[in-house]
Amino acid sequence: MEKPVVLVTGSNGEIGRSLLERLSASGRYRVVTIDLTPLPESFRPLCVETYAGNILDRYLLDQIAAHHEIEVVFHLAALLSTRGERDPELAHQINVEGSLHLLRMAQAQSNRLGRAVRFLFPSSIAVYGLPTLADKRAAGRVREEAWNLPITMYGCNKLYCEHLGRYFATHYRQLGALSTAARLDFRAIRFPGLISAETIPTGGTSDFGPEMVHAAARGEPYACFVPPEARIPFMAMPDAVEALLGLLDADHATLSTTTYNVGAFSVSAGDILARVQRSFPEADVTFRPDPVRAKIVDSWPEDVDDTRARKDWGWKPAYDFDRAFEEYLLPKIRARYAR
Ligand code: SER
Repeated sequence: MEKPVVLVTGSNGEIGRSLLERLSASGRYRVVTIDLTPLPESFRPLCVETYAGNILDRYLLDQIAAHHEIEVVFHLAALLSTRGERDPELAHQINVEGSLHLLRMAQAQSNRLGRAVRFLFPSSIAVYGLPTLADKRAAGRVREEAWNLPITMYGCNKLYCEHLGRYFATHYRQLGALSTAARLDFRAIRFPGLISAETIPTGGTSDFGPEMVHAAARGEPYACFVPPEARIPFMAMPDAVEALLGLLDADHATLSTTTYNVGAFSVSAGDILARVQRSFPEADVTFRPDPVRAKIVDSWPEDVDDTRARKDWGWKPAYDFDRAFEEYLLPKIRARYAR
């Protein structure tokens, strides 16, 4: 039997590249990608086909669906939170309209195959909005239902798309659908800030974490846009990819919801600096808070309660803060900049 086809949108992004490597290493899938920018040559052998194009182009999506029997979608393409505040309308187009196009395409694919396409959607701690620092401190580890009051366009978009996915998965009825029509199997993960050794994110607000680490490794000065006490949860990229694959593989019957928190470690910008300085004593980091970005970080929770993911599909991060540095970030980043 041929291996199932997986479609990855935003394949050139931070999560995308790590996911492609992991999917290829698993040997279980044929991978098709779409991204605005062409995938670098070195990643092409990991895929059966790569498309350079816009997810707002529904005809391109239909063309991709016509050429491949897609059974799994990882819809990673998005415009992140800082960038979204600079151009909220564009953020809405990409994050909401783009996601709707993908959901529609995946639903049509489910109808065609007569079985549910699994649709994996990375959501974010940006769906939370704590109005004050006192609320943030008092809330501690937030549950999925709490504080769903995002203050960014990106957060609003992610929260809405979670609902859109839930709608497709549980309520959507297509007029005139074939009797074999299957509903989409939508599964979302709310990620904390992600830190990758391979790539630096663009346009996010949790970027101060990865930017600080990469700048120190490159021996470049870094002006951090949040104050040292700013605290949010973070996760090492390999865990983020394992979370996506863990949720993908979970038996549908064990899932009690369509959206799950996942956590790893909660640290402040000052904690990250202290850890960076242990490995790079020369690190030249100053704090120059940007009021808009610092306010966004203040509105995100200190940590998330991921009890439900642990219980339903066995989520457990492999990397705490120290292990993320010792066994993943430092060795990989050093090797990368030595090259
Ligand atoms: N990391 C994203 C951002 O900062 C949040 O999901 O925008």
